[in-house]
Amino acid sequence: MQFVLRFGADRLGFLREMASYGDIAHMQTRGLHFYLINHPELIQDVLVTHHRSFVKSRALQVARRLLGDGLLTSEGELHLRQRRLVQPAFHRQRMAAYSQVMAHRAEQTAERWQELGNGAAVDMAQEMMRLTLAIVGKALFDADVEGEAAEIGQALTEALHAVNRLLLPGGELSEKLPLPASQRAEQARQRLDATIYRIIAQRRASEEDRGDLVSMLLAAQDEQGGMSDVQVRDEAMTLFLAGHETTANALTWTWYLLSQNPAEERRLHKELDQVLAGRTPTLDDLPNLPYTRMVLSEAMRLYPPAYAIGRQVVEPYPVRDYVIEPGATVFVSQYVMHRDPRYWFDFERFDPNRWTPEAQARRPRFSYFPFSAGPRVCIGEGFAWTEGILVLAALAQRWQARLVLGQPVALEPLITLRPKHGMRMTLHRRG
Ligand code: HEM
Repeated sequence: MQFVLRFGADRLGFLREMASYGDIAHMQTRGLHFYLINHPELIQDVLVTHHRSFVKSRALQVARRLLGDGLLTSEGELHLRQRRLVQPAFHRQRMAAYSQVMAHRAEQTAERWQELGNGAAVDMAQEMMRLTLAIVGKALFDADVEGEAAEIGQALTEALHAVNRLLLPGGELSEKLPLPASQRAEQARQRLDATIYRIIAQRRASEEDRGDLVSMLLAAQDEQGGMSDVQVRDEAMTLFLAGHETTANALTWTWYLLSQNPAEERRLHKELDQVLAGRTPTLDDLPNLPYTRMVLSEAMRLYPPAYAIGRQVVEPYPVRDYVIEPGATVFVSQYVMHRDPRYWFDFERFDPNRWTPEAQARRPRFSYFPFSAGPRVCIGEGFAWTEGILVLAALAQRWQARLVLGQPVALEPLITLRPKHGMRMTLHRRG
């Protein structure tokens, strides 16, 4: 029980403490077995080499209530089939169109900041959430959801808190009781559903292939036929949620880190000024913005939006001197591994120079895995890199952000790693 309480109160501290016991740490409570596996090769085994020994853990099975059987939560044959049907939406040639949406929406944010005026205070977490929601809405659904962003954001926060509560002991029971929180969660789900079913209905009605994801999902066929409305809803909901919250967090933490590290910020500005000289960035600029990418890589090292991955063992799993029993839960944690002093010198320090090709070559591949790996690797990884770099480039070439005095900075590990008290920052126009 103590374990459960501690895990509930300080998830990240607890995971790091577990890691201090060795590469494989075991914890047992009320007949449930938990393992934290914290060595690059062993992490690779779990995610890639021996992935067949695992299914997704309870956390994601709980998320199924919100996401249905979308890519993130489905298993086995269904997952394989859906992944094949959705994959074309992320092909390289589609990225050109998405990248225009990304840069355009970032420019709109810059214009809005201009209207707010030099020195205005904003909640950067909300700003980034609003922007990435608008991008995913437009790029994948050809829908303007920015107007609804505040409401969707609130519904999403409620829904995430609900999933989080369900993970705690007694959680499933509390969901069945008519508590205000469970009612709010249900209302949140209904609001999110309403938005998505509206988009599906519009597409079905227009019968036009708009080249967006929903049109594609509605038209997708394989030997088993097409997708039902519910399946399209589940995939759309999954991409909607998985596709903006994570990137928004990565960008928010990046703004925070830049505000605390002026030398690195200056170097970023230098690159942006040289390469862009004030114009809107495009997909073709990406290879010429290596430092911008290094800044994002380093931000996702310190604050990985997905901070841990859980898997349930389905067959006896031998690892070093142990055999992990079926039914046990195995965690691998980006947050813990990305701060492991064996691979990261002075690990608390924000240092984008860790991401030169030479420095990277000196580290094992799985000392860093923000997007996971193997058959369940993030389908939006390429999308997220392009989005992160273009948004940061478009905004940081004109604006600097500084923490509002007294703004507390703390981590809130819900499903993703959010800043607990938001991120109030003042905006300052450059040069
Ligand atoms: C910085 C941004 C992002 C991070 C750090 C991130 C991280 C991850 C991670 C770690 C997983 C694996 C979860 C697991 O195996 O339990 C995942 C899966 C997934 N991500 Fe992302 N993600 C990001 C952005 C995106 C974007 C932009 C999209 C879509 C537009 C997206 C869609 C998905 C989907 C659908 C899955 C499930 C894939 C499957 O199981 O087949 N993600 N993501």
